[in-house]
Amino acid sequence: MTAPGSAPGSAAVRLGRPVPEEAEAIAALNNRFAPDGLTLPRTAAWVEQHLADYRVARDADGTIVGCVCVDEYTPALAELVSLAVHPDAQGRGLGKQLIQAAIALARQRGYATLFAVSFSDELFLSQGFRATSVDHFPEKVARYAAISRSEVKLGRKFCFAVEVGPASPTGTVPASVRAG
Ligand SMILES: CC(C)(COP(=O)(O)OP(=O)(O)OC[C@H]1O[C@@H](n2cnc3c(N)ncnc32)[C@H](O)[C@@H]1OP(=O)(O)O)[C@@H](O)C(=O)NCCC(=O)NCCS
Repeated sequence: MTAPGSAPGSAAVRLGRPVPEEAEAIAALNNRFAPDGLTLPRTAAWVEQHLADYRVARDADGTIVGCVCVDEYTPALAELVSLAVHPDAQGRGLGKQLIQAAIALARQRGYATLFAVSFSDELFLSQGFRATSVDHFPEKVARYAAISRSEVKLGRKFCFAVEVGPASPTGTVPASVRAG
């Protein structure tokens, strides 16, 4: 992943859209944090079905080092899920870039609100999210009640939301939040 002699994660990293062949790598990156409850487990098949909803970060040799997904609930509401950065690439701003890419994607899609359930409270608050409760999103509670009661419990304490707002009239987004 890293050229000999260079520090881990120091090579140029680019954000973009994934291709189907990358579904396994994306699921593997997401799932390395699932045992600690930081991400929900995802299969490669789930990732492939939601490929258009993902944005990824690749290092200079094309290895997936980060991912994020915007998961739709209703035409007005989506959840930011599957946010993960490889440990070698953490602490260099990639998490923030991926969150901004997810906001840009949510805006393009026309959702009014994007929410996330996460322990990374300072990270989300620094990116324009406000603290809220998952109880404000009955769609989420209904979807998860059957499969992950702990996710619903967690969401009462660690839920964050941002009002996405409409896409600009020109359809452009600021360079800082543009993902390829
Ligand atoms: C959370 C995560 C995506 C952040 O990625 P990253 O590339 O390290 O993030 P950044 O470099 O953009 O860090 C942004 C800031 O958040 C802070 N931060 C990173 N992870 C954090 C965490 N778990 N809790 C609190 N703060 C965190 C960093 O210290 C940094 O603060 P600073 O800008 O004041 O120095 C990464 O740590 C990760 O993959 N964690 C495991 C999976 C996970 O928890 N996903 C979130 C599920 S919603």
